[in-house]
Amino acid sequence: MKRRVHTAGPEDVATLGRLLRLLAEELGATLGAGEPAGGDRLGAFLAAEVTSPERCFLLAREEGRPVGLCGLRFTPCLWTLRSAAEVQELVVTADRRRRGCATALLEAAAAEAARRRCSHLWVLTESWNTDARAFYRRVGLKEKTSSYFEWALSQGGAGPPPALICPCP
Ligand SMILES: CC(C)(COP(=O)(O)OP(=O)(O)OC[C@H]1O[C@@H](n2cnc3c(N)ncnc32)[C@H](O)[C@@H]1OP(=O)(O)O)[C@@H](O)C(=O)NCCC(=O)NCCS
Repeated sequence: MKRRVHTAGPEDVATLGRLLRLLAEELGATLGAGEPAGGDRLGAFLAAEVTSPERCFLLAREEGRPVGLCGLRFTPCLWTLRSAAEVQELVVTADRRRRGCATALLEAAAAEAARRRCSHLWVLTESWNTDARAFYRRVGLKEKTSSYFEWALSQGGAGPPPALICPCP
């Protein structure tokens, strides 16, 4: 089986979309949730992302078929005064798992992060995602305690939570 990992370009937007939908399904999420229906908002969004200097999408192909995706975002890190690489998306198609595909993607991600002189590579994953956590541990990422808090900002909807509204004197 011949595997190739390469950086995705604008011509790969449809493939990225397919793999991201698969990832969303796996995580029980919906891509573009809350956005008005119609049009190809995901395609347009990805077309901008794939050419962003802060982004890098790595695609794994086996016998030419796209079977895995690793999406990176590079952000400045004040603690190290260098860039840091966040793995924002990682998925391998169900029929190609446990064959080293995600490992190859993470190796390519680490090489890209090193090329950009990043101080570290990091990832957030859900506590219930035991498969992903086993994988990250196995490839050598250090498991640090982390929590994730979110505040949904609806379009023209509700304001900040009451605790954040200062009463006028
Ligand atoms: C997590 C995921 C990317 C791993 O992809 P993969 O190509 O199967 O991973 P690899 O074959 O490179 O695995 C390397 C090692 O990691 C560990 N590992 C991988 N998947 C595992 C699982 N489901 N359970 C336990 N250990 C696992 C194993 O030690 C494995 O080596 P082995 O097969 O020789 O035992 C894949 O299961 C996936 O796409 N899951 C759904 C999407 C997802 O949860 N993404 C992460 C979001 S943060």
